Amino acid sequence: MIGRAAGPRIGITGLGVHAPERVVTNDDLATMVETSDEWIQERTGIRERRFAREDQALTDIALPAATAALADAGVAAQSIDLLICATVTPDMLFPTSSALLADELAMPQAAAYDLLAGCTGFMYALAQAYGMLASGLSERALVVGGDILSRILNWDDRGTVVLFGDGGGAVVMERVDAGGFLGFELGADGGGGVHLSFPGSGSRPLSNGEPSALTMNGREVFKFATRVMVSSATAILERCEKTVDDIDLYVPHQANKRIIDYAAGKLGIPPDKTVVNVDRYGNTSSGSIPLALAEARDAGRLEDGALVLMTGMGAGLTWGSALLEWSDRRIAR
Ligand code: ACO
Repeated sequence: MIGRAAGPRIGITGLGVHAPERVVTNDDLATMVETSDEWIQERTGIRERRFAREDQALTDIALPAATAALADAGVAAQSIDLLICATVTPDMLFPTSSALLADELAMPQAAAYDLLAGCTGFMYALAQAYGMLASGLSERALVVGGDILSRILNWDDRGTVVLFGDGGGAVVMERVDAGGFLGFELGADGGGGVHLSFPGSGSRPLSNGEPSALTMNGREVFKFATRVMVSSATAILERCEKTVDDIDLYVPHQANKRIIDYAAGKLGIPPDKTVVNVDRYGNTSSGSIPLALAEARDAGRLEDGALVLMTGMGAGLTWGSALLEWSDRRIAR
């Protein structure tokens, strides 16, 4: 799917993130599996990641992020009429994490549902909220992206446990009087889904002896990632009649520094416009893009009017890009 935003201007008016306190360094991991700081840094650029406590579930990460986003926007939870939570690690399948969150935030007036699109979940959720807001079905939306991937890792597989971390973010979306989303490109290739899967997580029974945990063919996912990070960004830029030179900030999914470097290099986006925090968080799946966006804003890299390109990719296999002219100036009501 590809589309140029044609309706009213819809932007992000509030942003909040949360990562668990526990920092797990590469050296810490090397005490748990056969690996080394050198191997992990050279192959991925990751130095450390955050892991949730054993008693924490997704909503424990999402709630502080959502509360921070609402405070940042200066709006009450009771003014939100749509809550979408993108995650592959909900507290449980039902009640949904979005329904639990809506309850914790005391916002029974909101439609609330979870969205499953792997690490691209946050991009899909942004597009869905955009559609609801632009059509007039929703007035103000809260979009949450987050994961506790440490909960679904296979500790017998050193090739995957070193890559992932926990964290999340949330944004408030509504009508703005300048800028806003320019368009979205989203895709899915279920045929490639076998390369990044979570067997035993749904209604299909496990094969004999198969562990129920995240399973990945790293080389295939690497090839897929480098391809779609470039093709998706190129497609949305073309559709919105923008060029790479117009981009002020590139916020790619934080899976691996090598993938980010490849995509940025191929697209021709310089390092000073590219946000990288995978070194400190690892791959936080749906939490990765909001965490990176918040870090860029806190560093003063997200000015009013800045053209922001976000591209995600992940399980499904899925991918997605959004082009956004940053403006948090909501229309007075
Ligand atoms: N520590 C030390 N050695 C390791 C480790 C480890 N943690 N993991 C694997 N190795 C070894 C392998 O056993 C292999 O050894 P061998 O040559 O003796 O057989 C060697 O290192 C090379 O293994 P490869 O898997 O070929 O390593 P590669 O260079 O492909 O890097 C990696 C692996 C980092 C996983 C890479 O393929 C990658 O980044 N893929 C994309 C992953 C990704 O982005 N996934 C998430 C995207 S979607 C989402 O966000 C959920």
